[in-house]
Amino acid sequence: MEKHIYLIGFMGSGKSTISRKLKKLMQVKELDMDAEIVSENGMSINDMFARFGEDYFRDKETEMLRKIADSAPAVVSCGGGTVLRQENVDIMKKSGVIVLLTASPQTIYLRVRNSKDRPILNGHMNVEYIASLMEKRRAVYEAVCDIRVATDDKNPDQIAKEILALSGCQKK
Ligand code: S3P
Repeated sequence: MEKHIYLIGFMGSGKSTISRKLKKLMQVKELDMDAEIVSENGMSINDMFARFGEDYFRDKETEMLRKIADSAPAVVSCGGGTVLRQENVDIMKKSGVIVLLTASPQTIYLRVRNSKDRPILNGHMNVEYIASLMEKRRAVYEAVCDIRVATDDKNPDQIAKEILALSGCQKK
């Protein structure tokens, strides 16, 4: 693999699951941005939002992305909000291919409803809120991606293979 594969999309669109699948298929390094940020800062994302605010977390995302962009090609599972900053998109465009995973608000709800570690959804865990936030972000997601894959009613293996076929990424 010659460049990074950045997986983007709404919370619960399957980025982490699919990046782990791609790691196995491609035998490449896999990085989960949220997990890297948590381990580097020794603090959960909930605590980061609560103690220092969303902008602080967003700065950490940009820092992490810079570091990742400069490292060996990997499959990168981005946070759902990473591409909301143009600066981040610029870094990603320069260093990899951007793959958008999509799913309906209903599917997303079923995947994330028991999650307590997504501050953006805390207190708003319902299909209507998910649908309205998704609608607000849709234009950005669609504009920045190179490839788009729908994940509803597909298994991780199918989705990962679809990504590889569309991206032309090959094992080294
Ligand atoms: C966020 C998505 C989360 C995490 C943070 C903010 C967002 O990542 O980065 O809670 O703004 O959509 P996942 O998409 O992996 O849940």
